[in-house]
Amino acid sequence: MLKNLQQQPADALLALIKLHNADPRVDKIDLGVGVYRTSDGATPVFKAIKAAEQKLLETQDSKAYLGPEGDMGFVHALIPYVFGKDFDRSKVEGMQAPGGTGAVRLAVEVAKRAGVKRILMGTPSWPNHAQIVAAVGLELVTFKHVTAEGTADLNALKTALAAAQPGDAVLLHGCCHNPTGVDYTKAQWDEIAALVTASGVLPILDLAYQGLGDGMEEDAYGLRKVLAEVPEALVAYSCDKNFGLYRDRVGAFYAVTSDATALANAMANGSTIARASWSMPPDHGAAAVRLILSDADLTALWLAELDEMRDRMAWVRERLSAAQQVGTVNMAPLGIQKGLFSMLPINGDQILAIREKHGVYMAGSGRINIAGLTNGNIDKFIAALGDVAA
Ligand SMILES: Cc1ncc(COP(=O)(O)O)c(C=O)c1O
Repeated sequence: MLKNLQQQPADALLALIKLHNADPRVDKIDLGVGVYRTSDGATPVFKAIKAAEQKLLETQDSKAYLGPEGDMGFVHALIPYVFGKDFDRSKVEGMQAPGGTGAVRLAVEVAKRAGVKRILMGTPSWPNHAQIVAAVGLELVTFKHVTAEGTADLNALKTALAAAQPGDAVLLHGCCHNPTGVDYTKAQWDEIAALVTASGVLPILDLAYQGLGDGMEEDAYGLRKVLAEVPEALVAYSCDKNFGLYRDRVGAFYAVTSDATALANAMANGSTIARASWSMPPDHGAAAVRLILSDADLTALWLAELDEMRDRMAWVRERLSAAQQVGTVNMAPLGIQKGLFSMLPINGDQILAIREKHGVYMAGSGRINIAGLTNGNIDKFIAALGDVAA
């Protein structure tokens, strides 16, 4: 039987990590994998997480099963941060998921069970979005996310929504768009909220980088604006970046509607999907987040660490945009883009050349991890880019 299996394409980013690890050059630069790095190039455990883990070690008295919904204390503690302090609690319910990935999977699966047939989505997007939509068996309808000028393409979204059919959902990045860093402006979100509502499509909002753009409140603007107007929505949330928990797989899936029965059924369907997929989500990281959010000192420590990350990325973006024109690449837009990623308009040959000649590793799409740049390597990176993009 097993000989019937087809080969699968290697995951490009995992292949890039392997290549980077095998490169003996000491001044190589890793801009591939999507994790935050300090100015020393490290991805340390947050101090707030360490403190919460210590508390957990001392106080956790059981590791008995929790159930498919996971740690509901964690799920509920996040609600004011995601939806806002004044959000009507009766309209939202959630469950824990293994990372933002698990949350996106739950959202797309629940959408399918609710009758969604097609997902509208701006591209480029996080590659796993398309893989999840395909794995769930829905049709993906794409539109352009970025204009030729490098801004978010609201007209493309408008056109897609105008052509929407019954049974459509739209998948939107809440902030810090991956891979482009090009977010909708506040004014655009105001329009999007009205457009989505008028179109009748089901919004699926993916918030994987809250706090890494302009701040926890600021980064929730679009999501909250849409939720203030639409009758119902699904939300996929990740704590893996803003709590630095990557491998601990911490996320949450929420449904929003004022129909109490529909809300309960969304959760019941999410639970049965979780039960048949991973049974229940990993506990440790979510328990640590719950402890942070239930302790004012730990919350303040976490928010200060998040501020530090954002400040560092703002510094990198400032330095890159100050370079203005590097070969054929206009660097100015990098200064106003948000979050961990930006995409450089260079071709495959140039991406290969910057890797082979200069030891700079970036995704085949031209996506760079902003946090991979430090005081020690940013000048070398700009010079290398100038060389290959001459
Ligand atoms: C847009 C987006 N959504 C969801 C995720 C999932 O994050 P994780 O599963 O690591 O929590 C990512 C991670 O890269 C992402 O970029």
